[in-house]
Amino acid sequence: MRFCLNVDHIATLRNARGETQPDPVTFALLAEQYGVDGVVVHLREDRRHINERDLRLLRELVTTKLDLEMAAVEDIIEIACDVQPELATIVPEKRLELTTEGGINVIDNLEHLRSTIERLHNSGISVSLFIEPDINQIDAAAEINSDFIELHTGVYSNAETEDEEFDELERIRQAAKHAKKLGMGVNAGHGLNYKNMKQFAALENIDEVSIGHSVIARAVMVGVEQAVNEMLTIIQQYEIK
Ligand code: PXP
Repeated sequence: MRFCLNVDHIATLRNARGETQPDPVTFALLAEQYGVDGVVVHLREDRRHINERDLRLLRELVTTKLDLEMAAVEDIIEIACDVQPELATIVPEKRLELTTEGGINVIDNLEHLRSTIERLHNSGISVSLFIEPDINQIDAAAEINSDFIELHTGVYSNAETEDEEFDELERIRQAAKHAKKLGMGVNAGHGLNYKNMKQFAALENIDEVSIGHSVIARAVMVGVEQAVNEMLTIIQQYEIK
C-alpha cells in the first residue's frame, strides 16, 4: 500500500500569518526524502491552503507523484491541464466546509464528470473520483472511464463503536474488491491516522492511502522524518504481503 502525503495544512499554517513559512513545497520535498510515495494538494476555489505558486513549484520539484485534488469546475480544470499532475482526484467542494465532507455523487453528475475526465485524459492526466464505498457509485465511475476511485474513509475514521468500525471496514473491503474487478485502481483517504491505519493497512485491494491532517499534526510535534517514518512503519507492519 502506497502512502501519499497531503501537505495542505502546512499551507494553512503559513497562511495564518500571510508569511512565507512554513513552506509546503519544502515540507513536501523533505517528506519525499523520508519515503512518502507521493504528494497530494487540494487547490480550492478560495485558495485557503495551497495556491498556484505552490502547485507550480511542486510540479517542477516533486519526483514521486503529484496528486491534485480538485473540483470539476472550469478554471481549476484549465489549471490542471496546464500543470499536468500525474493524477487529478475530483472531489466535491463546498465553500463553507472545514474539509471535504463526503464523496462526489457520480450518478447525479454523470455527463459533466464524463466530459471532465475526457478533457483531463486528453491532457495525459489520470483521473480518480473521490466517492463513498457504494457499489452503484463505483459502477458509475467505471462507466465514465475513471482510472481510479478514492474511497472516502470518513465514516470509518469517525466510527464511535467497534461494531460501526467493523461494518464500515467491511463496506470498504467489498467496494475495493468490486472496483478492482472493474479494472480501476483504488485509493482511500480522509481521517486516517496512526491508530486507525493499523486495521486499514491490512485491507487487500487498496493501492494507496492519502493522508494529511494526522501526519502534519504529528510532524509539528516530532518533525517530518519521524512523522513520516511512523506512518510508513505502520503500513509495512500491518499490510498483508
Ligand atoms: N482524500 C481527500 C479526497 C481529501 O479531500 C482529504 C482531505 O483534504 C484527504 C484525503 C486527507 O484527509 P485527512 O487530512 O483527514 O488525512
